[in-house]
Amino acid sequence: MKVLFIGDVVGSIGRQMLQDTLPQLKKHYRPQVTIVNGENAAGGRGITEKIYKEFLQTGVDVITMGNHTWDNRDIFEFIGTANKMIRPANFPEGTPGIGWTIIKVNQLKLAVVNLHGRVFMNSLDDPFRKADEILEQVRKETNCIFVDFHAETTSEKQAMGWYLDGRVSAVVGTHTHVQTNDARILPGGTGYLTDAGMTGAYDSILGVEKEIIIQKFLTQLPIRHEVPEKGRKLLSGCYMEINDQTGKCVKIENIVINEDRPFGGEFY
Ligand SMILES: [Fe+2]
Repeated sequence: MKVLFIGDVVGSIGRQMLQDTLPQLKKHYRPQVTIVNGENAAGGRGITEKIYKEFLQTGVDVITMGNHTWDNRDIFEFIGTANKMIRPANFPEGTPGIGWTIIKVNQLKLAVVNLHGRVFMNSLDDPFRKADEILEQVRKETNCIFVDFHAETTSEKQAMGWYLDGRVSAVVGTHTHVQTNDARILPGGTGYLTDAGMTGAYDSILGVEKEIIIQKFLTQLPIRHEVPEKGRKLLSGCYMEINDQTGKCVKIENIVINEDRPFGGEFY
């Protein structure tokens, strides 16, 4: 099974980059499932129903979320019926939405799980034990399991990778918006990448107007984050191949597309 994952799409510039680039990526990698983290898709803050539908029309199969899930109030209107969107599974019991889903690929199934870290983030339920709980149910249906672990620290993400090694097909981190250069297959057969990076403004700080963030560091005053709408764009993510029967990852490679690393250039 071939799976494409695109890291945190930030604002309209990120959505535009996804729309512009996804057809080429699909032609090149021929993924059977495309997953996108969309928690920053609406101007950096959450997601709307319109954007959710736009993602599906663009060719996205599953949208994962994170700590910004509730930032756009629109979500409360449609999350109940948005069965292609998952929010972190370790949000408190009774939270709207679902934390994992199973996508059918011909005769095969891919489970997609979203978890949220707790270090330097809101203290949610334990994502490690939540993963155990989910796997008990999911593994009755399929060995092919993708985990988006939305977390701040590299150590927590590595811990999740090693904790789930041999039990899931891939653990890919999101949230920190800078792609790490550590894509690998762990000894048990789990594809691992600490952070997939983001899709949005290339000349920015984590997808936000760089001047705003610099001012914040200079003044220490609270300043509202704004996402640039124009300028050079970046797409980040990774591509994985999973053995259909065993669920083990046989290939994982990172994807970075920007003006310095154009698609079709020496990296492809
Ligand atoms: Fe996040």
